[in-house]
Amino acid sequence: MQDTRHRVLDAIADGPVSGPALADRLDVSRAAVWKHIEALREAGFSIDGGGDGYELVSTPDFGGEAVAFGLDAPFDVAYHDTIQSTNDRARELAAEGREDVVVLADEQTGGRGRLDREWAAPAGGIWLSILLRPTVPPADAPAFTLAAAVATTRAAREAGVDAAIKWPNDVLVPDGDGDQRKLTGILTEMEGEADRVAWIVVGIGINANVDAADLVADATSLREEGGDVNRRVFTQRVLEEFHDLRSELDAVVPAWRDLADTLGRRVRVDTPGGEIVGEAVDVEFPGTLVVETDDGTVRVNAGDCEHLRPA
Ligand code: BTN
Repeated sequence: MQDTRHRVLDAIADGPVSGPALADRLDVSRAAVWKHIEALREAGFSIDGGGDGYELVSTPDFGGEAVAFGLDAPFDVAYHDTIQSTNDRARELAAEGREDVVVLADEQTGGRGRLDREWAAPAGGIWLSILLRPTVPPADAPAFTLAAAVATTRAAREAGVDAAIKWPNDVLVPDGDGDQRKLTGILTEMEGEADRVAWIVVGIGINANVDAADLVADATSLREEGGDVNRRVFTQRVLEEFHDLRSELDAVVPAWRDLADTLGRRVRVDTPGGEIVGEAVDVEFPGTLVVETDDGTVRVNAGDCEHLRPA
């Protein structure tokens, strides 16, 4: 069904096509063509239906059909105007055996952040969770989180925003006073056995067309940094970049290094084993931070990282 709808869109994007010609080309009834056209109009596509036939005039700025149309990555898009948490929904889909699905929402009412924190997710954001079933060991899972940070940072830079990554996966923008504000957070969840991941959900929260007043104190948004973006295009860019990287995991860490703001900085990392303070000198696959401390080199796999002002 969705496939036929995309073929209808492809056909009418190239110029006017009559209903009968479309029905012939797609091997469906004329009534089916009409239903698809009506469904697309309801989804916000503007379709001219003049004497020469149907012609696509404009695509909506957001929504499931809009993001799926022209997306150069093999994800199904499950869109919700409002939902509790896209990660929760993606986990349900994982339990149903699905894969390569993106749960996407305009608003979340119960968005979840790392360490059981709440995540503010008002209407106007890009809140999405990608459900994958990669054939990798659980130890490699952090590479997918880094890939999400790289994908989002690249999309933000393409949109003209001076974004960079704080280890492991916060996308930040400098505030001009030597501090940084958070544009994007990533929450990765997974299930698996010792040697093999069953599924991974990479949840990406992008503060897009929202006011900073509706976010937590140290957050910013694309709207605040450069103005509203076309969320359809931005989401597609994130998904396409992410897909390229998940298909070539070895490329993730070099790409991350290029976009990182943490390397070369003094950092304090809160880890389950205690606090580590020193200079962040590198990141190694799948996302291990290498810190030079007064007591020697320490490798950190997980923790909360704070950028410190130079000593
Ligand atoms: C963080 O604490 O920095 C991570 C925030 C992750 C938020 C995103 S929004 C989309 C997805 N759904 C959720 O409930 N959380 C993640």
